[in-house]
Amino acid sequence: MVGSARFYIPQRRQQSSRARGSRAPSAAVTYVTRGARRLGDMARRYVTLRILLNSRVNLRVHRCDRHRDPAGSTIDDMSISADSRIAVVTGASSGIGEATARTLAAQGYHVVVGARRLDRLQALADEIGGTALPLDVTDEDSVEAFTTVLPRVDVLVNNAGGAKGLATVADAVEDDWRWMWETNVIGTMRITRALLPELIASGDGLIVTITSVAAFEAYDNGAGYTSAKHAQAVLHRTLRGELLGRPVRLTEIAPGAVETEFSLVRFEGDQERADKVYEGITPLVAQDIAEIVGFVASRPSHVNLDQIIVKPRDQASAGRFHRTANPPK
Ligand SMILES: NC(=O)c1ccc[n+]([C@@H]2O[C@H](COP(=O)([O-])OP(=O)(O)OC[C@H]3O[C@@H](n4cnc5c(N)ncnc54)[C@H](OP(=O)(O)O)[C@@H]3O)[C@@H](O)[C@H]2O)c1
Repeated sequence: MVGSARFYIPQRRQQSSRARGSRAPSAAVTYVTRGARRLGDMARRYVTLRILLNSRVNLRVHRCDRHRDPAGSTIDDMSISADSRIAVVTGASSGIGEATARTLAAQGYHVVVGARRLDRLQALADEIGGTALPLDVTDEDSVEAFTTVLPRVDVLVNNAGGAKGLATVADAVEDDWRWMWETNVIGTMRITRALLPELIASGDGLIVTITSVAAFEAYDNGAGYTSAKHAQAVLHRTLRGELLGRPVRLTEIAPGAVETEFSLVRFEGDQERADKVYEGITPLVAQDIAEIVGFVASRPSHVNLDQIIVKPRDQASAGRFHRTANPPK
């Protein structure tokens, strides 16, 4: 009796919700829903516009060109020169992304930099004559606000990412895994999906994804990061096939140990633990990777560098290093 009652109640709920779902919404419901969506869109555009104005952004926002900001000037008033090629670098507030933004700007790109720490981004944008926009790749609304204002995109560098923790699978911390998958995998998917039309429309697009040697190897205590980087890499490699015949090149750059804030983030601000990762080796620096991105971006458009694995001379694999007391700087 009890068993059948337990089974019966969910079934009824399922049936009634299915029945509700199959009914066409009333005109009033449709009207209210559309109204709410329109209000949401307007609010988003307003927030985007305030960000643009506050960030002293110099972009032409062609998707919203019929909207006016509260001061009365049209968004069309803000424009960059028509022949500027635009490079987008995610995670540009430090490390590899920051260095890459500088390199691409020196090559003549107008670089749009995104990350969560806007103060750092703004200083970088001021320095390189680019555009700083707030971006949290784990937040769909943030990605939409970021990508919607870009008038064109020629190069996308999927760099935002990182690791959290170093634990065995037996001791896996779900929040850390979630952070790594949300940032490295879903974040890359979101930004790429949103910008694909612009990259194709550019006639000569380039997507560079910074994966890792962790996208090729597994190592003890690293499954959260290695699995996320494997997944990010597979996403990127899948696109290589899906975009065949379209004017978009794809390059995966898989670095070994690069001394950035990476280990500081991984160990939640523990500087001593972070320093130990690079102890006794001469690690790569962010500029080493940036120069590779610059090389990739400056190849003729028929040349596709599919994968580049780059490690310090002192590193043979993800977990095997030659460490000495006084490594050359
Ligand atoms: N360093 C290495 O040894 C190494 C090796 C192989 C691969 N990589 C990969 O290289 C990439 C860059 O790392 P890095 O070494 O330069 O480390 P980093 O200095 O810690 O830089 C990571 C960048 O990602 C951004 N970021 C993190 N979460 C984000 C989010 N939710 N939305 C937007 N941006 C976010 C950070 O900016 P905010 O915190 O301001 O948002 C920061 O700018 C990562 O994908 C990393 O996995 C690094």
